[in-house]
Amino acid sequence: MSSKNNVDILITNASELLTCKPFDPKKPKTGEDLKDLVIIKDGALGIKDGRIAFIGTSTDAKNITAKTTINAARKVVMPGFVDCHTHAVFAGSREDEFLKKQQGIPYLEILKQGGGILNTVEKTRRASKEELLQKSEKIFWKMLEYGTTTVEVKSGYGLSFEDEKKILEVAQDVTKKVPIDIIRTYLGAHTVPKNTSKENYVKEVISSLEKIKKYAEYCDVFCEKGVFSVGETETILTAAKKHGFKLKLHAEQNNQLHSAELAAKLGVVSADHLEYISPDGIKSMVDKGVIGVLLPGVPFYLMEEKYAPVRELINNGMAIAIASDFNPGSCPSYNMQLMISLACLKMKLLPSEAINATTINAAFAIDRGNEIGSLEEGKKADVIVLEVDNHNKLPYYFGINLVEKVIKNGKVVIDRGKSSIVDKH
Ligand code: NIG
Ligand code: FE
Repeated sequence: MSSKNNVDILITNASELLTCKPFDPKKPKTGEDLKDLVIIKDGALGIKDGRIAFIGTSTDAKNITAKTTINAARKVVMPGFVDCHTHAVFAGSREDEFLKKQQGIPYLEILKQGGGILNTVEKTRRASKEELLQKSEKIFWKMLEYGTTTVEVKSGYGLSFEDEKKILEVAQDVTKKVPIDIIRTYLGAHTVPKNTSKENYVKEVISSLEKIKKYAEYCDVFCEKGVFSVGETETILTAAKKHGFKLKLHAEQNNQLHSAELAAKLGVVSADHLEYISPDGIKSMVDKGVIGVLLPGVPFYLMEEKYAPVRELINNGMAIAIASDFNPGSCPSYNMQLMISLACLKMKLLPSEAINATTINAAFAIDRGNEIGSLEEGKKADVIVLEVDNHNKLPYYFGINLVEKVIKNGKVVIDRGKSSIVDKH
């Protein structure tokens, strides 16, 4: 018997096994490929040593023996969600702002009044590393419960070398306590801290790059009217690139600044938000293969009408991903299933497109498309089992956690089997 016939975990009888396999293994899904989940009906999946060792139908799997067998009859099996844009390490909460937003005070106005991001900066600076770690541990366990197996985390609530480092260290240390993978991004240029001029702060961010490099893979900037201009963003990201950072960019969120064109010029991996992107911005991003990360939870939560023009992006050939943007101000949710529902309801994505955008394309948005995001032999065994029998039910039920099991690195880390069935036949 070959070793392939002897696995650690064998999942069988899945009504739909969504492989999310890309047409080109080196590229995110675009156009028609984005609609294709590459589904295996009556699917089976074998896991050995933390990797996917077998994928096929239950009939193909009948000679495989396993230490543990999971019967996924009438269930969807799919890759764990990749949340490729979050600000998940912070202290405190901002429910007071929630009330202001209800009264119609805009997000950027709250920031201008010294609230918003600066409010969380104050609390995060005051928190000890241990306090931050304890809070983060709870958050990342909950993310796993909702099916997220890899998450990108930005700093940006410290705004000084020591405090930014503290956040990035917590984002690393928490992975010793929670079985989740975290990709770290330095967002020192999230806003300008109090009692500093913007000019000085831009210099400070640039001079901190060398020291901070060992704590983060990416560098990001909040390019926005009243925050960092296109010129300042270019200066910071050009310096970051020289120090070996991969780049990301908060672009065109509330105003059309042509930061998408800058994203393309700098060769960033992803430009995120894009509500106000221009036709030229779309073209330049597509030409350079920059992924557009869309965050539907943000306009939803900020009660704004304008969402990113996703159909235009797709029709022009852009690769898109969807993430939560989990943060205490503009989207206090990390429920990727809810983000899929919002992408379908508010942006009119097809369920299949939204699912590919939260798995394989999101993996490419953090440069991990060769490791995670799809179910293929040799890839990391990050797999979720949903308690519904077809993928259209994922956006259909909204705000409900449909995850029954989470397998991370080949181990069952969450099993909610009994408590949560919404769809028993
Ligand atoms: O992505 N845009 C800037 N930063 C976050 C919000 C952060 C906050 O409000 O604390 C975002 O929306
Ligand atoms: Fe963000």
